Amino acid sequence: MMDILQRRTFGRKTVRLSKSQEKLLGSVLPDLEIPFCEDKIDLSRYFAESGPLHLEIGFGDGEYTAALSERFPEHRIIGCEVFKNGIAALLKLIESKSLKNIRILQKDAVIALNHMFNKETFDYIHLNHPDPWPKKRHHKRRIIQSDTVALFESALKQGGELLISTDICEYYSWILEHMEELKLLKRMPVSGRFLDSFNKERIVTRFERKGNENGRETRYLRYKKVSFS
Ligand SMILES: C[S@@+](CC[C@H](N)C(=O)[O-])C[C@H]1O[C@@H](n2cnc3c(N)ncnc32)[C@H](O)[C@@H]1O
Repeated sequence: MMDILQRRTFGRKTVRLSKSQEKLLGSVLPDLEIPFCEDKIDLSRYFAESGPLHLEIGFGDGEYTAALSERFPEHRIIGCEVFKNGIAALLKLIESKSLKNIRILQKDAVIALNHMFNKETFDYIHLNHPDPWPKKRHHKRRIIQSDTVALFESALKQGGELLISTDICEYYSWILEHMEELKLLKRMPVSGRFLDSFNKERIVTRFERKGNENGRETRYLRYKKVSFS
């Protein structure tokens, strides 16, 4: 297995940015960005509030991030994405909706988690529709692997939750197998769109709706960090 820090889990590349996207990246991002660094960071430098802390990995166009922020203005949300067009899309939502509780990490989440955050930092980690890498020879690029699950577990607080969605049946089985084999986190019930104690009704993005319209049913997984002793 390739080293955790060498594995590239994303495929999309930034396509040409429009003038307005460039403007958002140049003028709005600097105030909201948590710049990548190789040392542990002090989160109080980036958030004045102290509410529950979320990490969303691979937010795409940021629709879920923005909806989460509107739903829980007192929570702190870190959105992590490598795709510049997606970051610009989230910045647009932040501006138009005057969202105050989102900070942006423009980095591979696996690398950022390895370096920047102390153990037991996050209340929630969200992984919505991670890239499925359907070809067998690409399975090693999937973000769910034994070492990354251990990384997510370590980054969660006691009682914290890892929330995953996918509309790819085979990837769903892959995730179940890895989680079951490792037994680091406890599987919790998910009924329909009711995900967890705080997110009463699932936020459904355009990406998710499109998949569903094309006959791909979204499946949700919820894991909690509990002491197994
Ligand atoms: C299939 S898209 C899903 C986007 C969004 N979560 C949604 O549900 O609409 C997966 C996203 O994850 C991002 N991604 C993949 N690996 C990542 C990583 N290691 N760190 C940060 N973002 C990542 C990709 O750039 C892409 O935007």
